[in-house]
Amino acid sequence: MANVYNIAVVPGDGTGPEVIAEGIKALNAAAAKAGFKLKYTRYNVGGDQYLATGEVLPDSVVEGLKKADSIYLGAIGHPDVKPGILEKGILLNLRFTLDQYINLRPVKLYENVETPLKDKGPAEIDFVVVRENTEGLYAGAGGTLKKGTPDEVAIQESINTRKGVERCVRYAFEYCRKRNKRKKLTLCGKTNVLTFAFDLWERTFNEVAKDYPDIETDYAHVDAICMWMVKNPEWFDVIVTDNMFGDIITDLGAMIQGGMGIAAGGNINPEGVSMFEPIGGSAPKYTGMGVINPVAAISSAQLMLETLGEDKAAAMIEAAVIKVLREDLEDLGAGKMGYSTSEVGDLIVNHINENN
Ligand code: IPM
Ligand code: MN
Repeated sequence: MANVYNIAVVPGDGTGPEVIAEGIKALNAAAAKAGFKLKYTRYNVGGDQYLATGEVLPDSVVEGLKKADSIYLGAIGHPDVKPGILEKGILLNLRFTLDQYINLRPVKLYENVETPLKDKGPAEIDFVVVRENTEGLYAGAGGTLKKGTPDEVAIQESINTRKGVERCVRYAFEYCRKRNKRKKLTLCGKTNVLTFAFDLWERTFNEVAKDYPDIETDYAHVDAICMWMVKNPEWFDVIVTDNMFGDIITDLGAMIQGGMGIAAGGNINPEGVSMFEPIGGSAPKYTGMGVINPVAAISSAQLMLETLGEDKAAAMIEAAVIKVLREDLEDLGAGKMGYSTSEVGDLIVNHINENN
């Protein structure tokens, strides 16, 4: 009998539902060709539900998500909700609760996609960032004292555990080996200033490296990484880093690969339930206009299939994305594609159907 995967869908806020609908179209087309089935269960959480009910993430939703084979998330973020409530209450809460300790973010420039980097093309921009996703400055450790007074104190601590760092670093080595491109793993840190946290990272990295003699290792400070990502992106194959640095350098990565309309990501628990999302956000001002590029969401669906072990179907989606970017889209920005959100989805589905 064909494999059946249960996919929990969280369309979320703003333009999330529009791009997720296109991702589902691409998933269904690829699954039909590759001979497996996808069953979807929709969960409505996000700003609108929070404003209506006062509840951010009901336990019943978490229980449902835990039982899924994978989660497909649109975007979280609502203009009428104070920043932090939905991000921490939904997105970070799910990453932590489901122990999705890897945030995998490919930075790959496809043919015919414009990059702001002069003289760089697809041959030079093709690397993956492995971001630790459950610790560091995101752990929520710290507090405030004397709030609202001139003596106010705010402390926000970076939590780094040997276990948490090691599993992330090990995943990055494994990923680099499986990717089998340049076989080079770069640790991105700040060992010259954050001498506690990145001492732990560096020692762990060097120890784990002994198990991977086939992988070349390198180290760069985060500020230098930002410089090299712009000047010599071809130096990178896989970069592993902590949560905060990973957050920052992957926005830079998204820009050099063509922008937020393209950038895909996966929150991965290799032993549990993973969650895939375009990294661009909910873009509320464009809601309902059909102008957002669904490629980031569709490429996130591709990452989901790779993680489920459906490599053939994943490759079909990527090939279709490559073709549409190369031949069809005028531009990648909102409203500049020459096609609507759903038309871009249709083009991709047509390529999947015709070429496989
Ligand atoms: C991201 C986002 C989130 C993060 C926010 C929305 C909490 O910026 O996925 O990169 O900081 O991780
Ligand atoms: Mn971010």
